[in-house]
Amino acid sequence: MPKKVTKAIFPVAGMGTRFLPATKSVPKEIMTLVDRPLVQYAIDEARAAGIKEFIFVTSRGKGALEDYFDHAPQLEQELRKKGKDELLATLKSTNMDSGDIAYIRQHRALGLGHAVWCARRLIHNEPFAVILPDDVIAAEKPCLQQMVEAYEETGGNMVAAMEVPDEQTSSYGMLDIAEDMGSKVKIKGMVEKPPAGQSPSNLAVIGRYILSANVFGHLNRIKSGAGGEIQLTDAIAREISDGEGVYGYRFRGQRFDCGSKSGFLQATVAFGLSRPDLRDDLEGYLTQLMASRKAAE
Ligand code: G1P
Repeated sequence: MPKKVTKAIFPVAGMGTRFLPATKSVPKEIMTLVDRPLVQYAIDEARAAGIKEFIFVTSRGKGALEDYFDHAPQLEQELRKKGKDELLATLKSTNMDSGDIAYIRQHRALGLGHAVWCARRLIHNEPFAVILPDDVIAAEKPCLQQMVEAYEETGGNMVAAMEVPDEQTSSYGMLDIAEDMGSKVKIKGMVEKPPAGQSPSNLAVIGRYILSANVFGHLNRIKSGAGGEIQLTDAIAREISDGEGVYGYRFRGQRFDCGSKSGFLQATVAFGLSRPDLRDDLEGYLTQLMASRKAAE
């Protein structure tokens, strides 16, 4: 059985330019789906998968993200005084114990591979997870937990995978399939954002990874790749021939690309509709809205 995965890296150094002007002062990862910041969804998913150490790779202007994880004793006291037990429990569930969370600064925006590499000294020689908070996955069993269970059988390296249409293959890391075993797929190649029409398959990498510490060695050596950036995909691809092998994992769940405005809005609606306290109101509004748009056509 492979070693337990207890550490996760959260690359959150991106500038979030697609969400300007909001991201002038608010880190993208603090933007909320209904009432929880994107990063909280990522943390909850990691916890469910057994992660105990949370490593954030940040950059200038991400102070609000660090503050978010501070305890709020005054606020807790107020809520307790007012008997708002439910809110108090919600607030407390976001608390992180001191020492469980670390922040590493990525000093230059050299790409996702470089961001992950910045955390190398905190990982040592253990397998670790990477979660991209932009990819929000709604699932009965959280995606990373599904992957940890699959990884216990395969070991090596594992990336979350999802089929995408032809016109989107140039936006993702794409997988070249050696053996398709259903939910698990053995990989013989990986290419970051291939030009249109040149992808080896329609199976794309989504932002959840379980990686061997060997990947840091590859990151030490690789040169910049697609878009002039140090690509995590390129380092993982080296594990296919020089390491412990790579598997894709077709997770069960719905993924929202919250790095795009449209994906963010879709996630907002979907998460709103999944909340018992909001569902009826929101559904009523959407039904009415669609009907009046149809009538106006
Ligand atoms: C990153 C990865 C890419 C992956 C994608 C998933 O790209 O480099 O391989 O498919 O996340 O969201 P980005 O979207 O950050 O450009």
